[in-house]
Amino acid sequence: MQENTLTDAKNQIRPASFKIIGTGSCVPENIVTNEDLTVFLDTSDEWIRSRSGIEQRHICTTETTSQLALKAAQNALENANTSEDEIDMILCATISGEYVCPSMAALVQRDLGAQCPCVDLSAACTGWIYLMDTASAFFARGGIRKMLLIGAESMSRILNWHDRSTAVLFGDGAGAVVLEPGDNYLASSFVTDGNDEVIAIPTKNGISPWFANEQKLPLVHMDGQETYKFAVHNLPKRIDEVLEKAGLKEEDLDWVIPHQANKRIIDSAARRMKGVPEDRFCVNLQKYGNTSAASIPLVLDEWNRAGKFQEGDLLVMVAFGGGLSSAACLVRW
Ligand code: ACO
Repeated sequence: MQENTLTDAKNQIRPASFKIIGTGSCVPENIVTNEDLTVFLDTSDEWIRSRSGIEQRHICTTETTSQLALKAAQNALENANTSEDEIDMILCATISGEYVCPSMAALVQRDLGAQCPCVDLSAACTGWIYLMDTASAFFARGGIRKMLLIGAESMSRILNWHDRSTAVLFGDGAGAVVLEPGDNYLASSFVTDGNDEVIAIPTKNGISPWFANEQKLPLVHMDGQETYKFAVHNLPKRIDEVLEKAGLKEEDLDWVIPHQANKRIIDSAARRMKGVPEDRFCVNLQKYGNTSAASIPLVLDEWNRAGKFQEGDLLVMVAFGGGLSSAACLVRW
């Protein structure tokens, strides 16, 4: 284990962080095309493609969220040449697991046969960045050999399939990474604008005989236009902030890994970031739709397995979503 302090680009002492040593992912087998949705929704392939860039999504039939998480974790461990015995902590980001308790991380731990503490974090589509930052804090504290991070969602379980304004946008999947101590996590930036009107997923009221409030449909409610405005405004801001914190410039970036919600939102960020060529924005949302906390590790794994990242490449991961929340982090590959 290396020392617990490092020197950053501005020569300031900061805590040790981590290095990504492996990635994995998993999506359910069943593919649902835009055309398939027109059978029961008043929508069209043309509308969905032109407004979001999405062409299809993978939707669970028999798979559970934790099964997707487990498979993504196993793929990441194999990619990192790491056994479950070496994992000292498992962190998961999800808003659509099959249980509130136990945590999805605990289910994955059981099924992997790992022996380590586990916890889930919930920050909707921004969950992945919170996971990275939490991991960095644990590494800074010391005593962790390797850590497993997983973003996994079955958004299909919490979608209102009668609401065409949300049902067409999401999909199911999981992505994971294995981390070891290193100095490759450079900076992060987080903003939360507490709000349950733009995006909300209520839980069930339960059966308390005293509880008197109306049951809100326990499914995804989203004001698409307000979310869009929030995303377009915040995405470039978070990237600027992490670059400034690390003493780096847009031109230093090799890859932008945005949350995969809408191609128009990514294009808008790309237009503003003139220092980064458009083909440096990693995009696979046309195949998977918005998989919430899984979307960044899913695209990260695809790019990694395609051999696109070179050692030393500078990556920015950036996300927005329920909360409302937005965040970015800067990682050296
Ligand atoms: N098919 C056909 N027509 C539709 C559909 C559909 N699936 N959905 C809505 N429409 C209609 C609307 O009813 C509206 O019709 P009207 O003009 O007759 O009223 C029209 O299309 C335009 O609707 P808008 O909402 O204005 O469409 P917009 O161009 O804003 O695109 C979209 C909608 C794609 C939802 C966009 O606003 C968006 O991507 N927002 C961001 C969503 C997002 O990224 N969420 C991620 C976070 S989610 C989380 O954290 C859980």
